[in-house]
Amino acid sequence: MRFGPDVASSLALLSLYTVLINQASGLFDDSFKGRRFICHYTTWSRTRQNEGAYTIEDIPGNLCSHVVYNFVAIHEKTYEITAMQPEFDIEENGFRRFTTLKDKFPNLKLLAAIGGWGHGGEKFSKMTETRDRRKRFVASVVKFLHKYGFDGLEVVWLYPGNFERGGNVTDKDNFYYLIRELQKTFADTGRDWEVSVQVPADKSRLDVGYQIDALCEAADFIHVIGYDLRGWWNNFADVHSPMADRPHDEGNFVGLNVEHGVNLWLQGGCLPSKVVLGVPLFGRTYLLDTPEGNSIGSPTIGAGSAGEYTNEPGYLGYCEICAILPNMTTRWDEKAQCPYAFNTIEWIGYEDERSLRAKIEWVVQKRLAGIYAFSLDLDDYRGHCGEPYSLTRVIHKYYEETKKQSLVTWP
Ligand SMILES: *[C@@H]1O[C@H](CO)[C@@H](O)[C@H](O)[C@H]1NC(C)=O
Ligand SMILES: *[C@@H]1O[C@H](CO)[C@@H](O)[C@H](O)[C@H]1NC(C)=O
Repeated sequence: MRFGPDVASSLALLSLYTVLINQASGLFDDSFKGRRFICHYTTWSRTRQNEGAYTIEDIPGNLCSHVVYNFVAIHEKTYEITAMQPEFDIEENGFRRFTTLKDKFPNLKLLAAIGGWGHGGEKFSKMTETRDRRKRFVASVVKFLHKYGFDGLEVVWLYPGNFERGGNVTDKDNFYYLIRELQKTFADTGRDWEVSVQVPADKSRLDVGYQIDALCEAADFIHVIGYDLRGWWNNFADVHSPMADRPHDEGNFVGLNVEHGVNLWLQGGCLPSKVVLGVPLFGRTYLLDTPEGNSIGSPTIGAGSAGEYTNEPGYLGYCEICAILPNMTTRWDEKAQCPYAFNTIEWIGYEDERSLRAKIEWVVQKRLAGIYAFSLDLDDYRGHCGEPYSLTRVIHKYYEETKKQSLVTWP
C-alpha cells in the first residue's frame, strides 16, 4: 500500500500523538509497563514417552513476556536455595539451557520458581523462622541468580500457616519479612531482578498465612492461583476455575472463584497493576456416580483416568483433553464462564479459548498486570488438535492487543 504525502504526515502526527498520550499517562499510572503474560516450564515434562517429551528447546519464547522454571528448592539443612533435580538442573545443564533462551528471545524475562506442592511448606517455615536463616537464604538466592542469569524469583510456598503442610502460626509474619528482605536486597544489587509471590484465592488460606497489604507492597508482583478451586476430592462434578458463584455453590464453596479471589487481594490493599491472574491449561476430571447424572454439581465417585502424558488420575492437560473432546458431549457454564465435557463414565472441567478470552477481558477491565498460564507442556504443544499452543496463542494475542490498546485507553 502507498500513501501520498498528506496521508503520510497525518499518520506521523497520529503516532506522535499516541506517543505523547503514552508518556503523559506514564506520569500517573505505570500499569501498562507491567503488562505481562507469564508462561511456565516444568522440568518433569521431559520424561514423557517419545515425542511427548517436552524440552527446554521446545519453549515458545516468542509467545510469552516471561517464562518460569519449575522448580528449585530450599536445602533442608543449610536453608539455602538449591536445585530440586540436580541430575537435570545441573548435570544436564537445565538452568543454563533455560537462561540461554535469551540469546534467541532477547526481551524474554526468565524467572525461577521455588517451592511448589511437592516441596511442601515445612522448609519454608523453618527457613523463615529466624533472621539469620532468612539472611543466609537471601544471600544464596543472589548468588544463584547471578550464577545462572535468571531475572528473578517466584516464591511458591503452599501454604504459609498451614499446619497440615508443616506450617506454624508465625509463618504469616515471617513470610512477609522474607519477601521484604528479598526485595530490598535485590534493589541493593542494582539489578532489575523481581520477586513475585504465588498466592491462593481462598479466604481461609489468606487469613492464616498472608499479610495481604504489606506482602503486596513488598513483592513486585502477586500471582493469584485462579485454578484448582475444585476437584475430584470434593465428590461432585465441577469446573475448577469458575469466574463467579453458581446456584449450586454452598458453604465453603461460596466465594471460591476467580473474581472473588482476586478481589480479596485488591480489597486487601493490592494495586491492580501488581496483580497477575493465574489460569490453567489443564482440566480436573471425575468418575460419574451414574451415567445420567452429568450436569454440573452431579455426584462423583473419584478421579477420572490418568492421561498418557500427565499420568495422574483426576488431571488432564489440554493436549490430552482436546484429543478426546470429539467423543464427548461439551457444555458451557455461563456463570463460571468455563466449559465442561462428559461421556457416560467421565466428566472434565477445563479451560478453552472461549473461557480464556472471558478471563482476559476481565483482567483488562480490572486493569490487572496480566496473566500467567500453567503450563506450556499442558497446552497442545505438538499441535495434535490444530495449531500448536492454541491456548497459549489466545493469551498471547490478547496480550499483544491490549499492550497496544493500553497506550491509548488506559489512563
Ligand atoms: C513455631 O514457631 C515458634 C517460634 O519460632 C517455635 O518456638 C515453635 O517451636 C514453632 N512450632 C512448630 C510446631 O514448629
Ligand atoms: C472416538 O470414537 C470413535 C468411534 O467409537 C473411535 O474410533 C475413536 O478411537 C475415538 N477416539 C478417541 C480419541 O477416543
